[in-house]
Amino acid sequence: MPTFRPLFLMALALAAPVAFGQTSSKLKVGLMLPYTGTYAALGTAIENGFRLYVAEQGGKLGGREVEYVKVDDESDPSKATDNVNKLVKRDNVDVLVGSVHSGVAMAMAKVAKDTGTLLIVPNAGADAVTGAMCAPNIFRSSFSNWQPGYAMGEVVAKKGHKKVVTITWKYAAGDESVKSFKEAFEKGGGKVVKELNLPFPNVEFQALLTEIAAAKPDAVYTFFAGGGAVKFVKDYAAAGLKKSIPLYGAGFITDGTLEAQGADAADLMTTLHYADSLGTPRDNSFRLSYAKTYKLQPDVYAVQGYDAAQILGIGLVATKGDTLKKAEFAAAVEKAKIDSPRGAFTLSKAHNPVQDIYLRQVVGKENKLIGIASKALTDPARGCKS
Ligand code: PHB
Repeated sequence: MPTFRPLFLMALALAAPVAFGQTSSKLKVGLMLPYTGTYAALGTAIENGFRLYVAEQGGKLGGREVEYVKVDDESDPSKATDNVNKLVKRDNVDVLVGSVHSGVAMAMAKVAKDTGTLLIVPNAGADAVTGAMCAPNIFRSSFSNWQPGYAMGEVVAKKGHKKVVTITWKYAAGDESVKSFKEAFEKGGGKVVKELNLPFPNVEFQALLTEIAAAKPDAVYTFFAGGGAVKFVKDYAAAGLKKSIPLYGAGFITDGTLEAQGADAADLMTTLHYADSLGTPRDNSFRLSYAKTYKLQPDVYAVQGYDAAQILGIGLVATKGDTLKKAEFAAAVEKAKIDSPRGAFTLSKAHNPVQDIYLRQVVGKENKLIGIASKALTDPARGCKS
C-alpha cells in the first residue's frame, strides 16, 4: 500500500496543531522595557526580578517553557505604538510585559485593549491603565501614581507642614504623583503654593532650585526616578536646600539610587509599597536569592518584575498555559493573594495592587522601614467601567 504512509503522515500533521495547540509551545513573553536612558537600571531590575521567579519555577509558567523577546523602548512614548505592534504582530508574543514610563505604558495598554493581548505592567503608574483604560486583559504588579503621592500628602499634612512646593517632570507620572499628593495634603489642611516642573528627562534643575529657595516653603514634595532622581537629590543638597527645607517624595527618589546618591540622600523620608528592611521571611529569602543571582541588591523594580511573573504564573496555572482563556485567567488572578516580597497583596477590580504604602527613611544604603503610612491603600480607579 504505497499511499498509506504519506496519507497517514499528512493526517498526523494536520491533527498536530489541534492536539498540541497553544499550550505545548513555548510561552513567548514580550519584554518592553527601557534598557537605555534615565530609566535603564529600572528596566534591568524588572527583567532580573521576572527571570528570577521564572527560574524558581524551573523555567516554566503554567507548564510552558518561557522564552523572551526583548525591546528597548527608550522610555520614548513616540516610539511606543510601533514597538508594541512589532511584538504583537511580528513576534506574535503571548503576553506583553512593560513598561517603566507611564506614557509608554499607556500606548501599550491601548494596543492590548484593541488586540486583546494579555498585558502585565511591572512599573508604570499611569492612573489611566487601571482607570479609564482598565480592561479584563490588563494587569499591574506595581502601583498607580496616585498611591504613593496620596500617602505622602497625608504624612506631610500630619507633620504640620502648611506650605509646600512641588517639583517633578512634566508628564503623566509626575503630574499624577503631584496631583494625588496635593489631594491628600490640602484635605489635611496644607497648601501647595507652587508647582514646578521640567520636561522629561531633563536634569537642569538649577533655575528651579533657585525658585524653591526664594519661595521658602515649609517642605518640598518631589517625583523623580532613576538617573534623574540621583542628580536631583545631589543638586538639592549642593544648593544648600537639604539643611533648610525638608524634601519628601514618592519612594522612587531614593529607590535603586542610594549607592550613587551617597550622603546627599541621608534621612530623606519617602512613601512606597516596598522598603529595604521589611525583615519578613518572604522578603529575606527573595533578597538573598536576588543578591546571589545578580550580585546586586534588589529594589522596588526587582520586586515588581518578580510579581509580574507571579501574576502571569497564577493565571496560567488556572488556564493550563493557555493565554487565550482570558476570563479564566482574570478570574484566577482576581481571587489570588499574591505572595509578594513587599507583603501579600490582592488586585482591585481594576487590576491594580491593593497594598500597604510604607513610610521609609534613608539610613546608610537602605530605605529603612519607619511604619505604614497607609494600610491596604486602594486606587480609586477613576473612570474604570469594567
Ligand atoms: C512612570 O512613568 O510611571 C514611572 C517611572 C519611574 C518610576 C515610577 C513611575 O520609578
